Amino acid sequence: MARLDDLFAAAAAARVKAYAPYSHFHVGAAILAPDGTVNAGCNIENAAYPEGTCAEAGAIAHLVMAGETRIAEIAIVGGPAGAGEILCPPCGGCRQKIREFGGLTAKIHLRDEKGTVRTFTVADLLPVSFGPESLEST
Ligand code: THU
Repeated sequence: MARLDDLFAAAAAARVKAYAPYSHFHVGAAILAPDGTVNAGCNIENAAYPEGTCAEAGAIAHLVMAGETRIAEIAIVGGPAGAGEILCPPCGGCRQKIREFGGLTAKIHLRDEKGTVRTFTVADLLPVSFGPESLEST
């Protein structure tokens, strides 16, 4: 439990760094790699709205730059700026990004407004998904 608390703490610390002057919705994500290292990211918006990036994408960028390419677990927290967390499920695009590095079994941890943790697998949140194996027959 301490380990999961640490992962949420890393996600919450990343959320503080969010650059979200348009949505005012601050998100943080922290990835636990199989080797025990943690990499985090926040959402970074842009005046050209579609150019903004999600917290999960930032965390994955840090993961890869750290020399890792596997996600064992990811904790995600989000909510309006200056307020507490609400349950913040990853968007569709981020589910696909997590699937790339986490396969079907990586755990996705979310925390609701009461502090209750809900845990899903990638397969739960992205059923019948397209992944690296889908290209193997080509
Ligand atoms: N956001 C994330 O960072 N991750 C998600 O999975 C959902 C949405 C960000 C994008 C945007 O900066 C803000 O939350 C509002 O959509």
